[in-house]
Amino acid sequence: DLGGGRRRDGLNFTPVAPNTEDRVVTPEGYESAVVIRWGDPVLPGAPAFDFDRQTPAAQAKQFGYNNDFCGLVPLNHWNRWLMVSNHEYTTEEFLFKNWDAANPTREQTEIAWAAHGLSVVLVERDHRSGKLVPKVDRHYNRRITATSEFRVTGPAAGSQYLKTSADPTGTKVLGTLNNCAGGVTPWGTILSGEENFNQYFANAGSVTDPVQKARLARYGLSGAASTRKWERFDKRFDVAQEPNEPNRFGWVVEIDPLDPNSTPVKHTALGRFKHEGANVIIARDGRVVAYMGDDERFDYMYKFVSDERYKPGNSRYAREHNKKLLDRGTLYVARFSGDSPVAEIDGTGELPADGEFDGTGQWIPLASGNRSFVDGFTAEEVYVFTRQAADKAGATKMDRPEDVEPNPRNRRVYAALTNNTDRGKAGKEGPTEPNPRVNNRHGHVLELEERRGDNTALTFSWKLLLVCGDPASPDTYFGGYDKTQVSPISCPDNVAFDSHGNLWISTDGNALKSNDGLFAVPVEGRYRGRVKQFLTVPKGAETCGPVVQDEFVLVSVQHPGEIDGASAANPLSHWPDGGTSQPRPAVVVAWKKDKGRICG
Ligand code: FEO
Ligand code: CA
Ligand code: CA
Ligand code: CA
Repeated sequence: DLGGGRRRDGLNFTPVAPNTEDRVVTPEGYESAVVIRWGDPVLPGAPAFDFDRQTPAAQAKQFGYNNDFCGLVPLNHWNRWLMVSNHEYTTEEFLFKNWDAANPTREQTEIAWAAHGLSVVLVERDHRSGKLVPKVDRHYNRRITATSEFRVTGPAAGSQYLKTSADPTGTKVLGTLNNCAGGVTPWGTILSGEENFNQYFANAGSVTDPVQKARLARYGLSGAASTRKWERFDKRFDVAQEPNEPNRFGWVVEIDPLDPNSTPVKHTALGRFKHEGANVIIARDGRVVAYMGDDERFDYMYKFVSDERYKPGNSRYAREHNKKLLDRGTLYVARFSGDSPVAEIDGTGELPADGEFDGTGQWIPLASGNRSFVDGFTAEEVYVFTRQAADKAGATKMDRPEDVEPNPRNRRVYAALTNNTDRGKAGKEGPTEPNPRVNNRHGHVLELEERRGDNTALTFSWKLLLVCGDPASPDTYFGGYDKTQVSPISCPDNVAFDSHGNLWISTDGNALKSNDGLFAVPVEGRYRGRVKQFLTVPKGAETCGPVVQDEFVLVSVQHPGEIDGASAANPLSHWPDGGTSQPRPAVVVAWKKDKGRICG
């Protein structure tokens, strides 16, 4: 802090210019290196990666594919952490040179199952080089895949909607799928969101019961064969044979990396939707609040408030108590109101009459324990078919809520609304003050402040911090900051905060035709809205999972080389191994060459 209570934002780096290079570009004076990449060993006995000789057994011991979220849990050691990565999805045409979409083999399918899930890897910072080095640690390292056992907890555990022929109890699920973003909890566990799980299930189109059909359709399940055709090798992926199996995905899962033998759980109290992630803050009264987004066009933002209070400390007793906090509480969905008649940001550069896209809102309760607050829904139906309950409750349709994360410095909540090109299309909802752009290609970032700064509050105020895009374009807004002094930014996806409380934003799908990257922006003081680009990732990649520590930054480089026309037979990126190699998703660390603070 400077005198007078004023804080420096510490963001002293020179912004990286937009580019289309096939490498990670960091500012002058900074360096970067791969920490771990797809196929690198995680468990003891993992063979060296061989693209042309993949096996399910090897993949189950190696770092999985398409890492998205990345979280660090500190160990009781000054330079060691457990790094947890989500492996969101596979793109078989990039995994296999001989991929035949009509005829996948059992082996290819089992490799894909093993390439999904999460990895826990012990990492150590080498203070000489600045690098973060992965260790094949016998005790802590772990792979969780599409076939690992999970326990269902919370009020919908054992629900009739979760029972299958393989699990008549409705409490034991094999695997986690499409784990996108997540969060590290104050008690040192990892939350991870099961997002686009619908794509793994076949034959929802054969369902004739209208109630069941509508439930499936609301979650994007329809049609016949799935893209990957897993249903050929495990009937649980065939909705015609196992109608409840899709209901066992779309949850927030929690894993405890510090207890390698623990069974990971699926938390039904946090509702079922296309969970981007979940981030927890301890409210002033000690209850914990999890903020969550449902990443679909015109879907919703949610929060969960626990019944019980957080117990500080790392004792076994405190941790076991805290690991149950997300099982009992109240699930809410957000309704936003604007306060200005002009809701659209358009080509005129005109802002609302009061100068801001802002307003108020409320958290509408959906269910608490066994009690439903939504007419026509039992509590169990609210938890399993949350989207429909939230429709009924009158939630506000947002432009694809990705990360929704509280800033520990100011308790305000920042939501990345990544884009929604359907906004304003015929038959779809038009612009509203919280989602003010028709054909929203570049997305926006919303800042939410709970009443009196109380994260358990039922009402809030909100304002848009950023309406992303080319700052030269009149339909963008950078918190009121001088738009000639900011980096262009498009499609915000994941957010993180540094120790100063600055917001860091990673992007996915940059619609400005340059590579995706990581950006930092102050949210307080005279530089509020001054977006600066910190790094760019190789072509075709998205940037995700940012972790911002004082001395280094981690990003996930997901799907490098995922460019139209590319495949393993025709790779259009050779990052990170170079030459004629196949692209490999990876975690990257960036640091300051003089070993100074990232944010100094
Ligand atoms: Fe997997 Fe919402 O991004
Ligand atoms: Ca306004
Ligand atoms: Ca995402
Ligand atoms: Ca995204």
